[in-house]
Amino acid sequence: MHVELRHITKTFGSVRANDALSLEFAEGRIYALLGENGAGKSTLMKILSGYQPPDSGTILIDGQVVTFQTPADALRCGIGMLHQDPLDVPNLTVLDNFMLGRREGLLPKRNAAREALAQQAGRLGFQLDPFRYVDSLTIGERQQLEIVRLLSLGARLLILDEPTTGISAEQKHALFSALKRLAAQEGMTIILVSHKLEDVAALCDEVYVLRGGKLVGHCQMPTPIEALVTLMFGQSLPRPTRSAHALGEEILRAEAVSLTARRLTVRDLSLSVRSGEVIGLAGLDGSGQSDFLRACAGLQALNSGRILLAGMPIHGKRYPELLRLGVAYAPSGRLEEGLVDGLTLTEHFALTAGNGMWINWRGAATLAAEQIARYNIRGAPHSPVQTLSGGNQQRALIALLPKNLRLLLLEDPTRGLDVESTAWVWQQLLARRDQGAAILFTSPDLDEIVTYSDRVLVFCEGKATLVTDLDDPSRNPVERLGELIGGKGFGGKDSWVAWRGGAAPR
Ligand SMILES: Nc1ncnc2c1ncn2[C@@H]1O[C@H](COP(=O)(O)OP(=O)(O)OP(=O)(O)O)[C@@H](O)[C@H]1O
Ligand SMILES: [Mg+2]
Repeated sequence: MHVELRHITKTFGSVRANDALSLEFAEGRIYALLGENGAGKSTLMKILSGYQPPDSGTILIDGQVVTFQTPADALRCGIGMLHQDPLDVPNLTVLDNFMLGRREGLLPKRNAAREALAQQAGRLGFQLDPFRYVDSLTIGERQQLEIVRLLSLGARLLILDEPTTGISAEQKHALFSALKRLAAQEGMTIILVSHKLEDVAALCDEVYVLRGGKLVGHCQMPTPIEALVTLMFGQSLPRPTRSAHALGEEILRAEAVSLTARRLTVRDLSLSVRSGEVIGLAGLDGSGQSDFLRACAGLQALNSGRILLAGMPIHGKRYPELLRLGVAYAPSGRLEEGLVDGLTLTEHFALTAGNGMWINWRGAATLAAEQIARYNIRGAPHSPVQTLSGGNQQRALIALLPKNLRLLLLEDPTRGLDVESTAWVWQQLLARRDQGAAILFTSPDLDEIVTYSDRVLVFCEGKATLVTDLDDPSRNPVERLGELIGGKGFGGKDSWVAWRGGAAPR
């Protein structure tokens, strides 16, 4: 299938998200769509996959003009899209989700659907238990399910919007080999939207670069990563460096903490964190690091042990109370937990600034406008948060963090951000650190962990090991963390896989 986009333009108010874009996608090739946050990538891909119409411009498939009213129209023409935030229905089983979108009569029997699921998944090397509930799957598994579903519905061109955020190294490996096989052996066209240039280098044949809604580059791979960065930002960026800084008094203390979340038990975790210190929490998705973070935020009960904030026990206190004590928690599922779908930026600032029943709308609007300028958010005070680009949602979440924080608990704080925005977010966070805050953060990106952490807590199957000598020049810190995460020195990663692959926790 050959797909051509001609002069696609899309505006939202005064924003020209796509400005006369013309791109071509040939059969059997893997493309990258690159560009800084807000460049217009998701907008273009939503147009190509029928989620929204362009203001003007045409889509041609094998030379024929097509128009899509809905994603189902696009899928009937062979175009399927995997979204930045998963769209599946969490309280259904894998099998029910797989059956979504089928017309009655196409696959009436659950047994037949089950076989089709097993066959499609097997072909791609994915393992999906049909009877597990979707909300018990990891992000990587949810994504595998969506790919299998789109293929079974006839997708010939597959769009993946930032598919490697939040999935494990193994899942990424499985995903990339499946995509390569689909392109090479079955002539599928793949479009990868990503900020991870290493992923682009590993997977893609060809690259398109957008900036400010315009096409600013088109090149064949291999192209050096620095050249791609220059195309994306119009300049090359310096690498961040670690800096020495003074530590203050103890802010957080965990004493022999044990907790059970989902089906994982974190055991016997002790840690002391001082003011001005950054602790990275590393581990495969679901190894206990997020659960420990939530426990520090009062969102997860302990089985035993204590958590103290500046000497005061805080376990058992609820999050609003902890917030008053200077503890803030920012989850990674932006729209799921951090921001409220449907509310504007001003309404978000009103909610966080509000004390008591009365909302000061004028104050909130002023604050929103100030923070939008200060944090360089592309959006207006009246923009509903779901209309912001992924990166801008993350900026909004950082802008909403209260002042005078003592402890910041951040889950994957730069998820979905481009290189420049990542550096910028960390600049904001390190400024908080320099004012005396302690920071605990998780990230699937070991480079980020090594760059910004003073010490690292590595989680494997709920067991945590502290790594303190990151600067030891005789060993590569990223490789060392990678080994610990994979279970070297713990008990082997096979047991981790066994724990993941079990039955649904219901
Ligand atoms: N539904 C919408 N309503 C209003 N503005 C929108 C809407 N969708 C996108 N925009 C705006 O269009 C611009 C491009 O957004 P888009 O989501 O396409 O960027 P992106 O390249 O995918 O960015 P990111 O890397 O952050 O995901 C942004 O300024 C965004 O705020
Ligand atoms: Mg996007």
